[in-house]
Amino acid sequence: MTENLYSEYPEAYDALYAEKDYDAEVEFVLSEFEAAAESTPDQRRALVLGCGTGEHGKRLRAEGFDVVGVDKYPAMVERARTKTDAEFRVGELPDLPVEESFDLVWFPFTVVQHLDPDAVADSLRAAADRLAEGGVLVFDQISGEDFGDSASLRTYPSEDGTYARLTHVHEADDGASRYDALVFTPDGEFFVDTHRLFDHDDSYLEGVCNVLDLSVERFGWYDEEADPDETGHVVYVAQ
Ligand SMILES: C[S@@+](CC[C@H](N)C(=O)[O-])C[C@H]1O[C@@H](n2cnc3c(N)ncnc32)[C@H](O)[C@@H]1O
Repeated sequence: MTENLYSEYPEAYDALYAEKDYDAEVEFVLSEFEAAAESTPDQRRALVLGCGTGEHGKRLRAEGFDVVGVDKYPAMVERARTKTDAEFRVGELPDLPVEESFDLVWFPFTVVQHLDPDAVADSLRAAADRLAEGGVLVFDQISGEDFGDSASLRTYPSEDGTYARLTHVHEADDGASRYDALVFTPDGEFFVDTHRLFDHDDSYLEGVCNVLDLSVERFGWYDEEADPDETGHVVYVAQ
């Protein structure tokens, strides 16, 4: 995989996802967290796994959480550190450079789908092991069905100028959806970016959580009103 967007161009990642509604994602998770939490500790702690450029961590920090974010790529972590005084560490799931426990552990925006199927259970276990008593675990996945065998070209204005991305999504030999892209930067350069997303079985994900002694509720995409079975985009809240 040449995950250059994450490994080399985190500023391009932020430009491409500038329209993503991070506020709504955090608002949904906080509302579920508050509804599920057995008690609200004075100082709440959140662990963000696959934290990327730190947008969720920044918002959780502003809500008063102690935050640790972990991402596989140093470039993402370095960019996250410029945004907030939350703590960001480099680490690759299922191994976690984290000993502490947390009231909220969240894999936001397809992080679990980036994991090979044989790393999913260990990664969820690593997350569950860091949950404080009564803590809440959140992860999500988008359905690849909407994007299979499609191509698109989009432009993304940013304060540095306009980025463009030409993307081809297709099924890879291993059953994952493969996203192959050419990203054009405002300074006239371009780079290749490729990543895979697995559609993990709902019943498998829920089964892993149950084995970890967590019960799971499924929601639509960061919206209590959305029907997960209609869109296939699911947020899992486990406790
Ligand atoms: C789609 S991005 C989401 C980033 C961020 N959560 C957001 O919503 O903007 C997926 C992130 O997962 C990270 N990632 C992928 N595999 C990982 C692994 N095995 N361990 C830790 N991070 C991983 C990538 O580096 C990338 O930052």
